[in-house]
Amino acid sequence: MHAGQEPDPLTGAVVPPIYQVSTYKQDGVGGLRGGYEYSRSANPTRTALEECLAAIEGGTRAMAFASGLAAEDCLLRTVLGTGDHVVIPNDAYGGTYRLFSKVYERWGVQWTAVDFGDLDAVRAAVQPGRTRALWVETPSNPLLGVSDIAGLAGIARETGALLVVDNTFATPYLQQPLALGADVVVHSTTKYIGGHSDVVGGALVVADGTLGERLAFHQNSMGAVAGPFDAWLTLRGIKTLAVRMDRHCQNAAAVAQMLAEHSKVSEVLYPGLAGHQGHEIAAKQMRGFGGMVSFRHAGGEAAAVELCGRTELFTLGESLGGVESLIEHPGRMTHMSAAGSPLEVPADLVRLSVGIEDRADLLADLARALG
Ligand SMILES: Cc1ncc(COP(=O)(O)O)c(C=O)c1O
Repeated sequence: MHAGQEPDPLTGAVVPPIYQVSTYKQDGVGGLRGGYEYSRSANPTRTALEECLAAIEGGTRAMAFASGLAAEDCLLRTVLGTGDHVVIPNDAYGGTYRLFSKVYERWGVQWTAVDFGDLDAVRAAVQPGRTRALWVETPSNPLLGVSDIAGLAGIARETGALLVVDNTFATPYLQQPLALGADVVVHSTTKYIGGHSDVVGGALVVADGTLGERLAFHQNSMGAVAGPFDAWLTLRGIKTLAVRMDRHCQNAAAVAQMLAEHSKVSEVLYPGLAGHQGHEIAAKQMRGFGGMVSFRHAGGEAAAVELCGRTELFTLGESLGGVESLIEHPGRMTHMSAAGSPLEVPADLVRLSVGIEDRADLLADLARALG
């Protein structure tokens, strides 16, 4: 709540002001006040956010971007070159997959998609001397797969690859990948960190200072930075991250349990359920199991699509992690770009971002919509 946000020295304002400014007066050429010269390079509101993000992820440096994909792009262009190879998960956000398959492939970067829940499969996919990064989402979007971050960090160290963890679903309140050996944490701050469906943003956080310097150089050189108002909204979101996440976790656990007992649901994907593939690892590396729940409709694709249009409290829409509950059909919405690929999602899948509304209201809405 407080990191990077000392009360304003001039006025005592307890919240960092929105420095809606592009440039800064210099006291003589090169005489910068506090290091600020131009807001692409640095802006005080963004600095406050970046210091806060570094602190909550237990890193030494963070960089805030205009979107999660802008953060991913900055990372990839910093650490990869033509001819390099990346191991990616066979379950991940469709836009991340599209970045690898439709953008980076054209620049000669190759990828192999594997099940990151299987450490042997990850090890086998590494191409010695060519694989620069292992890229994992845990829990993953949208199948809620869980991967062993410490185990993957071991493989990354053995092979000289970087371990990149997209921590968007878990947030640093529930999981701190750097402490488990990851090299880079990626966020779509659009989601839980922002928390109110009112801002698009992204972040990179690292522990290693040299890598931090290289990323900061590329952030400034490529320029997809977070604007001051977006940085301010994101900081405001972080102040309530812990209390929101506790409530998201409680509500999601209740929703998962209710769905698991429902005759129209063939499978519930939630790491908090004892039968989940990654339950034990999640219990070890996470403080709670998060607010995302996916499930497969026993009635197939048409029934899943129809259900998404029938809830009232769960709003039909893309994105996730806001205080209000959302429902979507990944196959036709967020993950359409993965159709026909190793990352294709089941057609009967429904994804819920369980919000912080009254639990009984959420359960009643789903029960009514399921019929
Ligand atoms: C897990 C994950 N990573 C990255 C992204 C991309 O972030 P953004 O939409 O902020 O560019 C998303 C977006 O949904 C996501 O769910």
